[in-house]
Amino acid sequence: MEQRIPRLTLAPMAGISDWPFRLLCGEQGADETVTEMISAQGYLTAPKDSRAYRYIMETHSAEKPVAAQLFGHDPAYIAEAARQITDSGLYCGIDINMGCPAPKVTGGGSGSALMKTPQLAASIVRAARLATQLPLSVKMRIGWDEHSINAVPFAQMLEAEGADFLTVHGRTRAQQYAGKADWDQIALVKKAVRIPVIANGDVFQAEAARAILDTTGCDGVAVGRGALGNPWLFQQIKRLFDGTEVSMPTRQEVLALALRHARMMVAWKGERHAVVEMRKHFAWYLKGMRGAAQVRSRINTLPGLAEVEQVLTDFLCAD
Ligand SMILES: Cc1cc2nc3c(=O)[nH]c(=O)nc-3n(C[C@H](O)[C@H](O)[C@H](O)COP(=O)(O)O)c2cc1C
Repeated sequence: MEQRIPRLTLAPMAGISDWPFRLLCGEQGADETVTEMISAQGYLTAPKDSRAYRYIMETHSAEKPVAAQLFGHDPAYIAEAARQITDSGLYCGIDINMGCPAPKVTGGGSGSALMKTPQLAASIVRAARLATQLPLSVKMRIGWDEHSINAVPFAQMLEAEGADFLTVHGRTRAQQYAGKADWDQIALVKKAVRIPVIANGDVFQAEAARAILDTTGCDGVAVGRGALGNPWLFQQIKRLFDGTEVSMPTRQEVLALALRHARMMVAWKGERHAVVEMRKHFAWYLKGMRGAAQVRSRINTLPGLAEVEQVLTDFLCAD
């Protein structure tokens, strides 16, 4: 298989891919990132000072290009949100979520439920296409469940309606995040459309990025969970592809990046909120290290960044 540097993106993750995390992933080699999903209707109707929406949609000037991800089931709302997001000038593209398995999203007919209503999905993409000149993409799964795998005709329909590229997570909605992603189904989609396809699912090490590209023939890779506590994964993937040595971060590098992440969060959201929100990130940064469980429990009781910093420094720089 020929060696080529893949287009590398950070997959959207609700509750995680805010600008500080995106910025760190971009610094480590992600070419592009995506916001957390946002309800098109909520975006249009929430009070303009609503913190939840402001936080999700906020970008940073030092970030790599970021696309905004919308979810919804009403073409008119999606189109208007796409128009306003385009006019803001802050984003490099509009991505439509047709993959989210959460009942609160699918219950309303949005997210992966759209794979059961391809005509509605088509209307949504058609409306969005008319509303924006930005690159328009769709993030989809391979079907609703194992009895209704429809990734190929669904992708062909999205292409015909004007999507510029697709990201395909190789699981059904019924699988949620369990089992193995079916890369062969992604390969079938890639063969069936002319627009670029980004492969997604189960890339946790650099070698897996090569394997998913070899298997699917796709144009790029989107990494989600593999980047949690490990933004270095993007750099490792790039190094693997350009033939330079792939290295693991030292404990000092983990400490430095985790603390930088925390300081950005504190400056953005204030110490009280940031320290609580950072707990999950600290757990991910420490994952796999001996003694991490006790450190995690300790950090989860601490209200201030200075104390967290002391505990992390003692743990990571003890040697
Ligand atoms: C905590 C979490 C939140 C997610 N939020 C979103 C989201 O907002 N929009 C979306 O399209 N996918 C979302 N996903 C799915 C990921 O983008 C990705 O498709 C999935 O995790 C599979 O890729 P991975 O194996 O690299 O993690 C989320 C996944 C996780 C684990």
